[in-house]
Formats: sequence, C-alpha cells, structure tokens
Amino acid sequence: MTTTRTIHFTLNGEPVSAQIGTHQNLVEVLQARGLTGARESCAQGLCGCCTVLVNGMAVSACLYLAAFADGAEVRTIEQSNNGELDAVQEAFIECGAFQCGYCTPGFILMTRQLLDAHSDPSEDDIRHYLSGNLCRCAAYPEIIKAVKLAAQKRQDKS
Ligand code: FES
Ligand code: FES
Repeated sequence: MTTTRTIHFTLNGEPVSAQIGTHQNLVEVLQARGLTGARESCAQGLCGCCTVLVNGMAVSACLYLAAFADGAEVRTIEQSNNGELDAVQEAFIECGAFQCGYCTPGFILMTRQLLDAHSDPSEDDIRHYLSGNLCRCAAYPEIIKAVKLAAQKRQDKS
C-alpha cells in the first residue's frame, strides 16, 4: 500500500506544495516537477549526481526522503541568478570542465559550497570537498582548474 502526504517547502525561492508518496526520494519529486538537473545515477549516495541543497547543506537527493523536505528550503542547479551565469558556471565553461555534463550540476553546487566556506581553497581542499562527486568522463583536471578560476573570479568581483 502506498501512503501519500502533502509537503510544503521552498524551492529555489518559491513556496511550493507537493503530493508525495512517503517512500519517495527527493530527486523523484524534483524530476516530477520538471527539475531534471539533479539526476539519479548510482542511487546509493556514492556519485553526487543527485546533489541538491537542503537548508544550505548538500544532500544526496537519491537517499533523502522527500517527506524530510517538508518545511525546508531546497535549492537546485535550476535556481536562477537573475538570468546570469555565476562565477562557478562561467569557470566550468571556460575551462571545459565537463564532457557529457551528467555530473556537472552536482559539481557546481558543491563548488559553490566550497567557495562559500573557503574563498581561496588549496588543491587539497578542492579534492577533499569534491571527493563525493564522481565524473565518469574523468574531467577532473579541468574541474580542478575551473574551481581555482571560479575562486579567482569571485575574488575579482568582491
Ligand atoms: S544518484 Fe545519488 S549519489 Fe549517486
Ligand atoms: S562530464 Fe560526464 S560524467 Fe562528468
């Protein structure tokens, strides 16, 4: 038997409601709303492709029950920056830090978190912070370059 309930949360700055199955994970609920940036890949909390921010903390939405998002603030890669790319997105494009792009939303959200915590991260900081995000295309050298460039861009803008 499937049990359903209604949850209310803030999604990319907008208040929303959703009828969910109590067994459903957050990535399923987001995908059903047309937000496809967070993707279920490993479904085991290992790859970071489903990363979203809940109350400012990165979570693996494949393992996060949607019911837990009731009352929370959820942010996804689709959150608009007034129609502009931010420093992290610009840097990933300029460095060619992706091939298929499947992993990219998770890397970008985690890079934003990293740079919020460490404005001038060392390479060890970058590797440590992004260790939960896997790129099957192995674009890691370009990703590290992009994170360093994004840090520089943020500092130049501040
Ligand atoms: S799909 Fe969630 S961590 Fe891999
Ligand atoms: S760019 Fe293809 S998985 Fe990372």
